[in-house]
Amino acid sequence: MTRARITGVGAYAPKRILTNADLEKMIDTNDEWIVQRSGIRERRIADETEATSDLAVKAAQQALERANLVPEDIEFIAVGTTTPDMIFPTVGNIVQHRLGCRRAGSVDMLAACAGSIYSLSIGSQFIQTGKYRRVLCIGAETLSRITDFTDRGTCVLLADAAGAAVLEPSDDERGIIDFDLYSDGQYWDLLYMPGGGSRHPATKETVEARMHYAKMKGNEVFKVAVRLFVDCAERILARNGLTADDVSLFIPHQANLRIIEAAAKRVNLPMERVFVNVDRYGNTGAASVYVALEEAIAAGRLKRGDLVLLVAFGGGFAWGAALMRW
Ligand SMILES: CC(C)(COP(=O)(O)OP(=O)(O)OC[C@H]1O[C@@H](n2cnc3c(N)ncnc32)[C@H](O)[C@@H]1OP(=O)(O)O)[C@@H](O)C(=O)NCCC(=O)NCCS
Repeated sequence: MTRARITGVGAYAPKRILTNADLEKMIDTNDEWIVQRSGIRERRIADETEATSDLAVKAAQQALERANLVPEDIEFIAVGTTTPDMIFPTVGNIVQHRLGCRRAGSVDMLAACAGSIYSLSIGSQFIQTGKYRRVLCIGAETLSRITDFTDRGTCVLLADAAGAAVLEPSDDERGIIDFDLYSDGQYWDLLYMPGGGSRHPATKETVEARMHYAKMKGNEVFKVAVRLFVDCAERILARNGLTADDVSLFIPHQANLRIIEAAAKRVNLPMERVFVNVDRYGNTGAASVYVALEEAIAAGRLKRGDLVLLVAFGGGFAWGAALMRW
């Protein structure tokens, strides 16, 4: 079957930088605690005029330019996001119109921080089956909009960014070799936002009860996340007759340096072969793997023929892995 190959990657992060020192002035926290527990030193926060689609459009434009395509070439747009501009229409619709992708269908996928792997995998399917030849995959978030800046357990972690990748059919061994998508709703209340949906529509009371912010049981998320990370990485490698030794670069979801280090250690991947930028961006949800991929390419960390392992997990829980030959 034809592989879907990434032919252009783009990323965009808002200009405004929120450092740990800035957070020290807002809540009872300190740089040492944040760095030690999460590895995060600073993160980007969208300004009042920027919504998720604004970030997505900028990342997508860059990905299209790098793929040498024009918007009319795109046949489908797959967006991963937890923080759409509004409940509907989708970010995919807004991006389609703003970019001028006149031929493209579009969809948003809510797989929380696994939205990167979900959008990439769904996009890859359309290429593999031959249905479409040019698909735009996007991960975009303004997690700061659902962050309670009085809750020190979450507000030091979450942030805003967007990333995008153009997929086209490969005519050689390069491209997405395999992917796995998983979900397990038993963990839903470890990381969720209670307000604003059909269970608790917005009212004065839900706003006063701060129900329109992400809630997280950080400790429990940590334990399950490491296990799921390791499970799905090992499974996708084994199924393809590969081991950690074959992986040139591991690009994990950038939630937390401790989770990345614990997972890499258990999978037997030395940190020299793990891409990390959580220190500068924090947890940017569905955007993180795309943003990390874009930076890995810019830093010259990928060369033709390299085996790349991507893994992400997020609220729900939803998680997944993708394996590709660069
Ligand atoms: C959130 C996380 C960093 C907290 O680290 P932890 O070691 O589990 O810390 P705990 O939650 O047990 O809290 C330990 C103490 O630090 C305090 N604390 C929490 N946030 C703090 C902050 N920002 N600054 C200072 N102290 C803080 C707690 O109140 C607690 O104090 P107490 O012992 O007096 O009650 C960690 O659990 C984590 O990374 N979880 C995974 C989160 C994640 O990646 N989510 C996204 C998934 S996509």
